[in-house]
Amino acid sequence: MAAKWLKDTVFYEIYPQSFRDTNGDGIGDINGIIQKLDYIKSLGCNALWINPCFDSPFKDAGYDVRDYKKVAPRYGTNEDLFHLFEAAHEKGIHVLLDLVPGHTSEEHPWFRESQKVQKNEYTDRYIWTEFCFQGAGGMPYVGGESERSACYILNFFKCQPALNYGFYHVTEPWQKSSLDPAAMATREAIKDVMRYWLSHGCDGFRVDMASSLVKNDDEKKTGTSAVWKDVRRMLELEFPDAAMVAEWSNPPLALRAGYDMDFWLNNRGSGYSTLMRDYYNHGGSIHGDRTSEDHSYFKKDAGGDINRFLDQYLDWYEDTRELGYISLLTCNHDTIRPSYNLDTTELKLAYAFLFTLPGVPFLYYGDEIGMRYLDVPTKEGGYFRTGSRTPMQWDSSANLGFSEGKASDLYLPVDSSADAPTVEAQENDPDSLLNTVRAILALRHREEDLQADAAFQVICSEAGRPMVYRRGSLLCAVNPGGSDLEAVLPAGIAGQLQGEVVFRIGNASVENGKVRAGAQSFAVLR
Ligand code: NOJ
Repeated sequence: MAAKWLKDTVFYEIYPQSFRDTNGDGIGDINGIIQKLDYIKSLGCNALWINPCFDSPFKDAGYDVRDYKKVAPRYGTNEDLFHLFEAAHEKGIHVLLDLVPGHTSEEHPWFRESQKVQKNEYTDRYIWTEFCFQGAGGMPYVGGESERSACYILNFFKCQPALNYGFYHVTEPWQKSSLDPAAMATREAIKDVMRYWLSHGCDGFRVDMASSLVKNDDEKKTGTSAVWKDVRRMLELEFPDAAMVAEWSNPPLALRAGYDMDFWLNNRGSGYSTLMRDYYNHGGSIHGDRTSEDHSYFKKDAGGDINRFLDQYLDWYEDTRELGYISLLTCNHDTIRPSYNLDTTELKLAYAFLFTLPGVPFLYYGDEIGMRYLDVPTKEGGYFRTGSRTPMQWDSSANLGFSEGKASDLYLPVDSSADAPTVEAQENDPDSLLNTVRAILALRHREEDLQADAAFQVICSEAGRPMVYRRGSLLCAVNPGGSDLEAVLPAGIAGQLQGEVVFRIGNASVENGKVRAGAQSFAVLR
C-alpha cells in the first residue's frame, strides 16, 4: 500500500547544481530551492525529488557520496536542508532526497577503512576478492589500488565501489551470502542514513539503482527484494508516511519489494521511449540520424502506435494497481530533454497525456518551459547527459536569472540562443508551454478522477490514433497526428457523457456518440 499523500501528487525533479544560485558562486544551492518554492507550487507540483546533495568529490555529479549525512558545502548546510523541509511543508510540498544505496565514493571513510590490510569494522562493507590478481567472475572490478591484496567490485563508474549486500547465489569462496553479518551490517548502515534524514523532516527517497544491491541475484531479484522488504518494515514502524520511488523500471518487482512507485524509463522500445523519443539515449550520442528511427507517439509525423506503449503498460498497470504506482516522467538528469525532438505543440500533448494517466508523474526542472538540450562538454561524469543539466532559465537578466555570479564561474553555461525559453517570457502568454503545464496540473488537482488511483480504461487505441481512455467518469482523447480523426464510442459510454469539454488543446469535441479529435489535439470530456 503506497503512502496516501501520493494520490494527488506531482513531483518536480531538481538537479541542485543548476536550479538557482543565491550566493553568486555559480552553482545552485538549497536556499535557491527555498526561494523558488512558490514558483514550483504555481506549476501544480507539490513534491520534490532533489538529486544527491551530499558531500562528494562529484565524479558522478554527486552519485558518488562521500558522506551520506552531510550536505555538500557548495549547496549549503544540513540546517539549510532542514529549513527547506520546513518551508516546503508549510506550502504543502513533500521532499524526497536521493538515496544511493548500491555504492559510495571511493573517498567515503568506509571505503578508506575497507581497503586497509588491518581487519576492521569496514573490511567487508564492500565486495572484495581474496587476492590482488584475482578477477571477479565477470563483474567490473579494480585491482592494484588498495593496501590490501584484493580486488574490489564496482557498481557503476570506477569511482563507485559496490557496497556489500552479499550474493544470492554464492559461487566463489570470497562471495558472502546476503544474510552474512557483514551484508546485514550494510543494510543497517543504509537504514541509519534513511532514519537520519527522515527524522529531520525528509519525506522519503528516490532510490538509485534500486535493483543492484544483492549480486548474482535470480531473475525475480529475490535477494535484493528481501533487502527492500526489510527496509519497508522499518519504515512502516518508524516513518509510516515515508514514500520511496525506485529506479528499477520493473514495477511488478519494485512494488512487491515495498516501493510506493517505480519509474518506467529505461527500456528501449517501451515506456518513456515509445512516447517521447523512440531512441532512449540514442546510444549516448546526439549526433546520429535521429529522424529515421523515431516513431515516438507524440511526434506528429512519425506515425507511432500507442499500442507499443500500452502492451506493456496495461499488463503492469493491472498487475500493480493495488500495490502502488508506475511513475512516468517528462525526462530526467540522465536523458536527453524531450524538446530535443518534440516541438512545443507535441510537448503539450505529451505532457497532457503523461499528467492524465494513473500513477504519480514527474516533471524535470525546465521541461515546463521546453528548455533545450545543449551541446556542452561533459561535466562531473555527465557525458551526453550534461546537455540536460544546464542552468534553469528564469528571466532575461544576466545568466538568465540563474546566478548573479560571473558567467565564467557558472556550473555549466546557460543557453545562449536569442530565443532561449524563460519562465518570465512564458508567464504572460496564456498559450505558453509553461501555462499549459499549469492548466493541466490544476485540472488534475481539481478532478479526483485524473489522480493516481482513479480508474483507467482504454476505450480506443485502434491503429494508435486517436487514443481514447477513461479516467473515472471522465473521457480523455489524444490525437498527436496531423489529420482530424473520429472515434465511435461504445453506446454504454456515449450515453454516460454530458458532452462538456473540461479541458482542450486544439479542436476536440464529443457529439452523437463520437469523439472528434482534431489534428494535434487533446481533450478531457465529461
Ligand atoms: C543512476 C543515476 O540516475 C545516474 O545519474 C548515476 O550516474 C548512476 N545511477 C550511478 O549512480
